[in-house]
Amino acid sequence: MPETPLITTDITAVADILSAGGVAAIPTETVYGLAALVTFPDAIRRVFDIKNRPYDHPLIIHLGPNEDPTRWGHFNTHAHQLATTCWPGPLTLLVPRTDIVADVITGGRDSVALRVPAHPMTQELLSVIQTGLVAPSANTFGHVSPTTAQHVADDLGSQVDIILDGGPCSIGIESTIVDCTTNDVQIVRPGAITPDEITKIIVVPLAQLSGPSRAPGMLVSHYAPRIPMELVQSLREGRDLLMRYQRKYRHCVLLHHPDPVDYAVHLYTDLRKAEDMDYDCIIAVMPPNEGIGIAIRDRLTKAAVGSNPTH
Ligand code: TXA
Ligand code: MG
Repeated sequence: MPETPLITTDITAVADILSAGGVAAIPTETVYGLAALVTFPDAIRRVFDIKNRPYDHPLIIHLGPNEDPTRWGHFNTHAHQLATTCWPGPLTLLVPRTDIVADVITGGRDSVALRVPAHPMTQELLSVIQTGLVAPSANTFGHVSPTTAQHVADDLGSQVDIILDGGPCSIGIESTIVDCTTNDVQIVRPGAITPDEITKIIVVPLAQLSGPSRAPGMLVSHYAPRIPMELVQSLREGRDLLMRYQRKYRHCVLLHHPDPVDYAVHLYTDLRKAEDMDYDCIIAVMPPNEGIGIAIRDRLTKAAVGSNPTH
């Protein structure tokens, strides 16, 4: 029999590998995930090891649209409203976990992160395997998330058993994470589903972020490309800076998309390209602080932490 290629569109082949305790990269509408079946602790540990991720950074469980999420978590009214309105989609809910959720998934926490992804191939995969898949983003720890199958192959290569190719991700940045473990609903990671949309659904104000993050892994520098980044507030400022740097023979790239939805779609591909081209620095124009722009600003700010491109 011919060997299955690393990158494939064969959902059955991927389901077989996962059901035998393997690890597969899967497409979602946000970013690619590195998946293992919830019922295989060894495969789940391999997911952590492949990513080089600490075991206490808990994983999101991805469920098919026909799974009953209340088997996995206890949903308060807000969680219920959000799940009903936004799933399938780019929203992850933190809720108190039920007994069937293994410690290896939550790092021993009493909450669990749940999401029903909208990508049709992953939905089909979930309906074939008939249980949940844990899946962090399929990148090495601290690197930008992958938005194509090739990104996963570039980052993780043959460490993964198979990569399900679902084309480029339609959203391009990770899901909005909303903490519904208490009635003080809080956004712990901004994403395509915006604070305004969430407030409209739950009909009460969101709790403000304060104190230590409720989601481990929201490290200040989390999405770092390997080259320095400088953030500017307008395209004009970006162009001026680019000219100044080019006079100093610096090899720089200016990141900007007038439409913030396009900006999100292209962001991680642009960052990876800049690395591949070995630029001296990336200048990124911050989008307005509204809608999906809030999440893009969050990722850009984290990517730029520690950069000092002018020196
Ligand atoms: O769009 C996404 O959310 C992608 C796709 C693949 O679904 N996944 C993703 O997973 O971004 P990951 O592991 O890279 O980020 C999930 C974040 C982590 O920062 C983790 O700490 C947090 O969710 N998280 C997961 N379970 C949690 C829990 N029980 N309590 C608090 N934070 C949790
Ligand atoms: Mg991640």
